[in-house]
Amino acid sequence: MTDKLTKQDAPVRRTDVPMVKAEGVHKSFGQVEVLKGIDLEVRPGEVFCLIGPSGSGKSTFLRCINHLEKINAGRLYVDGELVGYRQQGDKLYELRDREVAMKRRDIGMVFQRFNLFPHMTAVENVMEAPVQVKGARRADAHHRAMSLLERVGLADRAGHYPSQLSGGQQQRVAIARALAMDPKLMLFDEPTSALDPELVGDVLDVMRDLAESGMTMVVVTHEMGFAREVGDSLVFMDEGVVVESGRPRDVLTNPQHERTQSFLSKVL
Ligand SMILES: Nc1ncnc2c1ncn2[C@@H]1O[C@H](COP(=O)(O)OP(=O)(O)O)[C@@H](O)[C@H]1O
Ligand SMILES: [Mg+2]
Repeated sequence: MTDKLTKQDAPVRRTDVPMVKAEGVHKSFGQVEVLKGIDLEVRPGEVFCLIGPSGSGKSTFLRCINHLEKINAGRLYVDGELVGYRQQGDKLYELRDREVAMKRRDIGMVFQRFNLFPHMTAVENVMEAPVQVKGARRADAHHRAMSLLERVGLADRAGHYPSQLSGGQQQRVAIARALAMDPKLMLFDEPTSALDPELVGDVLDVMRDLAESGMTMVVVTHEMGFAREVGDSLVFMDEGVVVESGRPRDVLTNPQHERTQSFLSKVL
């Protein structure tokens, strides 16, 4: 249902620098330690799946990657740069809000709830950030938005308002909207969890296409079929630590830890 993307659409990048690198990342809310030393690495072009029980810190970790939360200890890099800091010589300077906002532009985020602007049509939702944030010309932004809507199989719904679209269609508009900013990294936080089962497939198809185009993706999901087929790496998190990681097929079919086994026995 969507136009196939090609690797040529993907920006050329140095493959030696990880897109995301976490070293001993800690995050607390008050007294509660939510992330207790996360170490992981996401390579450019990789589909990196994150699974784990509710409350294990998955969303918090995504929010740290996206500069929405400050970490308390450890190091977190996106595309070789420290999140939230600028390094000058051997000194670290905390970024100002403006600089943080600039960095956040490079990272697309898709949430469980689609958060489209209800008073704007699908195409207006997709055009909004390029016009408002990047100062793109409306005609150019419109043209680009239409091609993105076509890419997610919704060219014929461009003039519809979110309330006139199914949840799955709204989520595909939300993906197109994130892509409109030409992100180098896409974060998905349970993108299909709020959808009726029959609408999940179309959204996963769009994500699969995006993966094939070479986009680097970190995906929090309960869709184990997707993780197995599309994922390059999979991490099982529980209570703020990475319990187990590896190739999705290996972790899902042959989990080494009791906690992983117990979680999978409930969701598979
Ligand atoms: N802003 C916040 N303030 C206080 N506690 C929070 C906040 N955000 C998340 N938490 C707590 O952090 C823990 C992990 O939450 P979360 O990252 O949403 O887990 P997951 O996405 O794996 O379900 C939960 O116990 C949650 O209540
Ligand atoms: Mg969550």
